[in-house]
Amino acid sequence: MNQVSEPRATYGGKWTREKLEILEKYLDAYTTALKKTPFKLMYIDAFAGTGHVDLDDNDEDTENFIRGSAIRAIGIDHRPFDKLIFVEEKEGRCSELEHLRKEHPGRDIQIENSDANEFLRNLQQNWERWRGVLFLDPFATEVEWTTIEKIAGLNALDTWILFPVSAIARMLPTSRQPDDISVKWAKRLTRIFGDENWRNLYQEDPQGNLFGDIEYQRDPGVNGLIGVYKNKLKALFGRRLLEKSRTLKNSRNSPLFEFMFCVGNPKDIKPAKPIAEYILEQM
Ligand SMILES: C[S@@+](CC[C@H](N)C(=O)[O-])C[C@H]1O[C@@H](n2cnc3c(N)ncnc32)[C@H](O)[C@@H]1O
Repeated sequence: MNQVSEPRATYGGKWTREKLEILEKYLDAYTTALKKTPFKLMYIDAFAGTGHVDLDDNDEDTENFIRGSAIRAIGIDHRPFDKLIFVEEKEGRCSELEHLRKEHPGRDIQIENSDANEFLRNLQQNWERWRGVLFLDPFATEVEWTTIEKIAGLNALDTWILFPVSAIARMLPTSRQPDDISVKWAKRLTRIFGDENWRNLYQEDPQGNLFGDIEYQRDPGVNGLIGVYKNKLKALFGRRLLEKSRTLKNSRNSPLFEFMFCVGNPKDIKPAKPIAEYILEQM
């Protein structure tokens, strides 16, 4: 049984730049595509940070501090967002976001010092005249399946999800019985996946062990666990899920996150999916 604390993902490498560039390109293309529609546009950053990111495994020849998602969203100016909501659980980071808000007095910026899951699950908004983009950028395993279900049901928010592949892989030891996983981690896995499907990642080893007991194995790669999550998203979002996704890797080429995209409103599948797909192919 593993009693150490839940694995955390690395924060701030080349892959950070990659995800933020993909997001920014999408925000720009999305707002442009909806420019002539009557909808008001909202951006929700559920794990907003401070507006700046400190890259810790950066190339020597580039800047260490880069613009974070909140600053990038405020900076979309071709067709600016009508409302921006930044959710952040750390008070100190909210104070930095507050500075950002003061620097942009003409903008409607709401800062929520709150848990992202709680905020999104309780989100009250009449979406009739609104469309938006939601960015789910956790450190690791913070996004819960019930939150994804709530978002899917709104039919309003195009959502970019960072699925924490490496943190989850470390919670699923390859050579154990699924029942050996600590109760705490098993509960967390079930909260992320929405059910106990993650147990199916373990298959009976046909050879058993030396004593003829049943042994279980998990494929050491990450494709299996990404597949389980994507299948869940597919069942929930249907054609609104973009099959293509981007594997974000660290400097040692190990997968850290899978960056996935789902469309909010079924009527927006075109243009949203082709735009997101094009950006993933080009970058
Ligand atoms: C990967 S960072 C986000 C970086 C940000 N998107 C950017 O580009 O600058 C994750 C942020 O989520 C915050 N966070 C972690 N768990 C949270 C939760 N349950 N609810 C809200 N914020 C959370 C952390 O304090 C951290 O600032």
